Amino acid sequence: MNRFLSDLLDLTRIEEGAVTPDLVPTDLTDVIASAVGDLAKTLAGRKVQTSIDPNLPLVRADAVLLNHALLNLVDNAAKYSPQEEPIEIIARMGRRGPVIDVLDGGPGIPQGSEQRIFDRFARGETSDRTGGSGLGLAIVKGFAEAMGFTVEAARRQGGGSRFTIRIPHEATVHVSMEDIA
Ligand SMILES: Nc1ncnc2c1ncn2[C@@H]1O[C@H](COP(=O)(O)OP(=O)(O)OP(=O)(O)O)[C@@H](O)[C@H]1O
Ligand SMILES: [Mg+2]
Repeated sequence: MNRFLSDLLDLTRIEEGAVTPDLVPTDLTDVIASAVGDLAKTLAGRKVQTSIDPNLPLVRADAVLLNHALLNLVDNAAKYSPQEEPIEIIARMGRRGPVIDVLDGGPGIPQGSEQRIFDRFARGETSDRTGGSGLGLAIVKGFAEAMGFTVEAARRQGGGSRFTIRIPHEATVHVSMEDIA
């Protein structure tokens, strides 16, 4: 089955309460590394810069859902920006908790469409020459929200898009020495 369709089915099951996300302590470094690895073909010949704060705590997340959310964001970054433009993936501590940013140097999302592009089947002008179903970002939003996270899109100053997954402080896991011993 097509990745989008199986994700959409999962999303429907989550929304109906038939399935609940499996929230377990998750290392964002691993999730980002596996998403980049899974997209090796798409990212061939591209410059991908990852910057991960080594002091980030583990977060309670469903690694599969978070991985699929990231796949869609990085896939879009590659699809909607020129080959020579680097793609950046940043994991950092924000004011209200850990944050993952996916940045590209493409045309950026059209002004005013920052919310709408997350709707199912929404496709923008930037997609005229590329194929797609308009489901990727709906899946990102649905999976993020199912885990208690949020996602937002913004235009970067100087061009390009920034997509940000925000993880609330409540989802961070504090490991004490007793847990490790
Ligand atoms: N990084 C980006 N830069 C510019 N426009 C973007 C970017 N990401 C998404 N968009 C715009 O948002 C629309 C919706 O994205 P979404 O991922 O939901 O669908 P898609 O990429 O068109 O299709 P699919 O992901 O289902 O293959 C896209 O059609 C495109 O116009
Ligand atoms: Mg897409």
